[in-house]
Formats: sequence, C-alpha cells, structure tokens
Amino acid sequence: MSTVSVSPETLAINGGSPVRTTFLPYGRQSIDEADVQAVVDVLRSDWLTTGPKVGEFEEAFAARVGAAYAVSFSSGTAALHAAAFAPGLKSEDEAITSPMTFAATANCVLYQGATPVFADVTADTLNLDPEKVAQRISSKTRAILPVDYAGHPADLKVIVDLAQRHGLIVIEDACHALGSEYQGRSVGSVADMTVFSFHPVKHITTGEGGMVSTNDPKLAETLRRFRNHGISSDARQRQTAGQWHYEMVVLGFNYRLSDFACALGMQQLKKLDANLARRREIASRYTSAFRGTSGVIPPAVRPDVNPAWHLYPIRLDLEKLTTDRAEIFRALRAENIGVNVHYIPVHSHPYYREQFGYRGGEFPVAEDAYSRLISLPMFHGMSDRDVEDVIAAVRKVTGSYTR
Ligand SMILES: Cc1ncc(COP(=O)(O)O)c(C=O)c1O
Repeated sequence: MSTVSVSPETLAINGGSPVRTTFLPYGRQSIDEADVQAVVDVLRSDWLTTGPKVGEFEEAFAARVGAAYAVSFSSGTAALHAAAFAPGLKSEDEAITSPMTFAATANCVLYQGATPVFADVTADTLNLDPEKVAQRISSKTRAILPVDYAGHPADLKVIVDLAQRHGLIVIEDACHALGSEYQGRSVGSVADMTVFSFHPVKHITTGEGGMVSTNDPKLAETLRRFRNHGISSDARQRQTAGQWHYEMVVLGFNYRLSDFACALGMQQLKKLDANLARRREIASRYTSAFRGTSGVIPPAVRPDVNPAWHLYPIRLDLEKLTTDRAEIFRALRAENIGVNVHYIPVHSHPYYREQFGYRGGEFPVAEDAYSRLISLPMFHGMSDRDVEDVIAAVRKVTGSYTR
C-alpha cells in the first residue's frame, strides 16, 4: 500500500493563512523616551544646528570606534562624498569597489568626477575579493573602497596591505558595520577613513545621518570643511570668538548634521552595545535554525570577525528548490514577512550600464549571489516571537518548494 504524502500547509500566496497577521518589516528603528527627551531638550535650547551636541556626539563616537577623530554628516551618502573628496579624488582617478553594495558607495567616486572600477566579491562573505582588487589596480587607481557587507568586515588587513604597497587610500564603507570587530579591532579604527550611516534601519539612528572616522588630523580637518561649504570656521566658533570674518577655502557643501540629530545620536550610542547583543542573538538563532533547513544557506562568518549584523541575508540553494528567488520572495511577503534583497549589483543598474557599458556577466560571483539572496528581518527591536515567525515562514515556504 502506498503512503499518502501529507501536503505542506497551504502557502498564504495560494490562499492559505499567513504565518503572521501583521507585517514584520526587514528593519526599523527603536526610539525610547530618553531619545525623545534628548531631542526635545535641544529644541528648547539656543543651538538647533552646529551647537555643542555635534562635538559631543563626534567625540563619543570616535571613542567608541577607537579612532582619533569622527566627523558627522547629514547622511552616510554625504559622508562617503566627503571621504572621496578629502584625499583629493578627481577626474582621471579610479577607485576600486564592490558591486555588492548600495549605489552610494560607487556614486561617491562619480561625485568627484573619478571612475568607480568594480572588482568581484568572495563567495563566502560577498565582500571585495582582494585578489580581484589586485588585478584591477592600474596607474590611475587612487583608492580602494571595501564594503562590510551585511556587517561582516571586509578582508581589511589584506586590503590595507595591498593599498600600502601601491600608495592607495582605503575608504571603508562600514554603513552596515557599526560595532563590528575585525581581528579584535573595532571597525572604524583600521582603514584611512571609515564611513557610517545612521539611517533608521541601522544599529543606531539620527533619522538621516552619517559619520567618517579617521586617525589622520589633516583628513579630519578637510572633512569638517567640506561639510560646511568649504569654510574654515563654523558659525558658533565665530560667535564665540566675536568675529565675523571667515574664508571659503575649498568648494564644499552643506552636509551638516543638526544638534537635535546629534543629541539623538548620543542617546542612541548608549544603547549600541545592547542593540548589537540583540542582533547577534537573533543571527545565532537564525543560523542554528537554517543550518538544518533544506534550500537555505545561512550567511558565512569568518573566524577572525564579530559581525554587527545589519542584515541577515540568506542565499537560496536553488538546485534544491523547484522555483526561483522571485517566487520565494513573494511567498514570504504573503506570509507577512518583510523580506528584502540586498543588493542588485551596482553595475547592473541602468545608469551604470549606460555610462560604462556593463552587459552582465562581468562579476559572476556577485551576479550569482544576487539571484539567490533574500534579506530576512533583522533589527534589535525584534521580539523572540518575531524571530520564530520568520523561521516558521522560511521553513513553510522553502519546504513547499523543495524538490
Ligand atoms: C553600504 C551602504 N553605503 C552607503 C549607504 C548610504 O547611507 P545613507 O542612507 O545614510 O545615505 C547605505 C545606506 O543604506 C549603505 O547600505
């Protein structure tokens, strides 16, 4: 007698009940009363922008990441722009970066009129492959921009050594990696400049906001000028000194972060360790659950790092599944799990295809990963129940598409 196979629970996409009744986003901020009060206090003070909170936040941030200086910006993108400006990146220069990132990483090179040159990533971490970087170095190369994808630090020592041998500057895009550790060192203290973002889905938020950390006093000075129109002093310094005179010495922008945003940043920074601990707990629960889930490959972690887990990107083992990433994505959304995809490789965007003639196939590791990636919800405010819902939904969906 043949056994009757029990059909898996009907997927929500096929009319079944979703795992959750409410939508769980892939990331979101946590704001408490102390945060609100800190902002309100500044709103009632004399300085709404470029006041005392800016310096306080920058000092506390620099101390936290183990750098001598930290310079705040109105966004991570503005911080990247400044980091590309500070070492003097200009037209005819090239900077090597990863295609597996948000467009802003490569765009900052374009803002300077220079050319972003992509190098493929390693299959385990999806971070810049140092061997591929070495192959792309030319007489025009001025900088390397590694990205700490999902919060897993890039191969920093190898990249910094390579850069030093060729006289290049390293600008690390650590917008995913506040609180990550690399060979026992804090991300933020290793590269020439390290760039962070305080967008609401990040480890701490200021609404919009960013920071560059560096140990180089000259770079720090140039970064400060660049965010203030290229002017040599700020309004508060002039008021304190009783002077009206200032000089615009380089072409800069208004990329300042307001005092109330910095007050929020100070409060949020106090919770960074707790936020990181929670993200690490969630990652560890996910990884132990998905190690035994057919069709799902959890993200790799190298032994010499402690990632900050901005994202938790699984890869689908498509050979074991009867469908593609798009269908699994839709099915998880129907279960009310707010999955996302990080990233469409930058060279695949129409702008880059049109400007640089990319046709696809140039960066096979990144492109193959892209066809399999799904970012699961990952934020420090997730409850245990949220985490178990995600695991249940992933198992339900992949289980019903398993070969
Ligand atoms: C890798 C990476 N770089 C840069 C940025 C830009 O940061 P922001 O949104 O603060 O401008 C982001 C934003 O998500 C990012 O993920």
